Amino acid sequence: MKIPPVKGTRDFYPEQMRLRNWIIDGWKNASIRNGFLEYDGPIFEYLKMYQVKSGDEIVEQLFSFEDRGQRSLAIRPEITPTLARMVNQQINSLPRPIKWFSVPRVCRAERPQKGRLREFFQWNIDIIGVDELIADAEVIFCSIDYMRQVGLSSDDVVAKISSRKMLAAILDLIGVAPQELTGVYTTMDKRAKLSDEAFEELLAKQLPDKQKQTEIIKLMAVSSIGEIEDIFELNEAAQAAVDELKELFRLLDMMGVSDFYSFDISIVRGLAYYTGVVFEVHDKLGELRAVCGGGRYDNLLKDFGGPSVSATGMGMGDCVLEILLENKGLLDSAREPLGVDYYIAALDKELVEASFEIAAKLRAKGLSAEFAYKPIKMKKLMKQASTLGAMHCVILGQEFIESKELVVKNMDSKEQENMSLDALLAQVR
Ligand code: HAM
Repeated sequence: MKIPPVKGTRDFYPEQMRLRNWIIDGWKNASIRNGFLEYDGPIFEYLKMYQVKSGDEIVEQLFSFEDRGQRSLAIRPEITPTLARMVNQQINSLPRPIKWFSVPRVCRAERPQKGRLREFFQWNIDIIGVDELIADAEVIFCSIDYMRQVGLSSDDVVAKISSRKMLAAILDLIGVAPQELTGVYTTMDKRAKLSDEAFEELLAKQLPDKQKQTEIIKLMAVSSIGEIEDIFELNEAAQAAVDELKELFRLLDMMGVSDFYSFDISIVRGLAYYTGVVFEVHDKLGELRAVCGGGRYDNLLKDFGGPSVSATGMGMGDCVLEILLENKGLLDSAREPLGVDYYIAALDKELVEASFEIAAKLRAKGLSAEFAYKPIKMKKLMKQASTLGAMHCVILGQEFIESKELVVKNMDSKEQENMSLDALLAQVR
């Protein structure tokens, strides 16, 4: 019986594993560079944790199950609820500011498609307990910092930014009732993916009032923050939210990433817990789904039974990112072999054992060494050395039989030298 892999999952053969590690190492380096500390939690939690505040879309995509004690559990579809739970648990003893990152493996029972799988890795960075806008700017900066590091430019990606606080204030002005808000957000979040007709039809289902529909359509058509001030008669709350966004843009300009962001009214975000600035990074050509998304969620810790502590952060999956990097030809270095310090090979059958002994001695000195299990011809030996990305080759041939001398070849300079094993070991000390 041949058992296939489960739909929407990936097998990581060494080649893919190398790529995965390369992506994750880049995420970790960017996190550390930006002052975040690593944490992790369990891969499953109580089901109700996701039902509280993640929103319907994610709840529909949960892999949930009952354990033997009849507890309803779910595999994590994201790590933000776990983070809120963990921080709440030790809120009084954790050193501030809380700037944490994690790279969890997460699962969502989505329909697998380009850039969307059922199991993926997601880089998360979050700042907890900082009310100031600088934290939102820092999260956006850090996402861009990573992208720049791997070679993506402002011609390739853009962080599209908006504000739930601003949307809420304007929707309130328009007369959308609080209980209608979630449905309207979900519809607005889909705007960029829908035709005008499909959007209007969906909106009409959420909001029967024609006047309100027209106002929302007008709102969704604005292309700059200034336009909002021109079109709507803003009240104090709405003006404050608009000013907040302008301040965020000033901070981002100051951080030197002005080419990398733009205001975009269609960014609403699918998750229910966002309360302020929201953003998503997209490929500039608009061919792929969001590379990452996040924003401010000031109520989640309180909703989870903790004190009222503000938070802001983002999550970036590995799937869309990998497609984007591949499209831009930025994965060559990720595919390079990691390389070994020494590749040892024998040209004669009776010398194979000695090559193992030499490899063991080099390994004992902390160097990486690989050897051939069988005697090998010179041409194949060189080919294998370059496949392994070896820095040096140690060849056991006639010289070894006659005078115990090894041929040590530097694969970079192509220079070679005969020496005894003791001399080689002394050299690497
Ligand atoms: P999210 O928008 O649900 O946000 O996911 C963030 C990113 O995870 C997406 O932009 C995408 O790169 C990746 N992603 C999501 N679903 C899939 C999937 N099925 N397959 C592959 N990649 C996927 C969150 O998860 C928030 N918890 C992020 C956050 C952290 N907000 C604040 N802190």
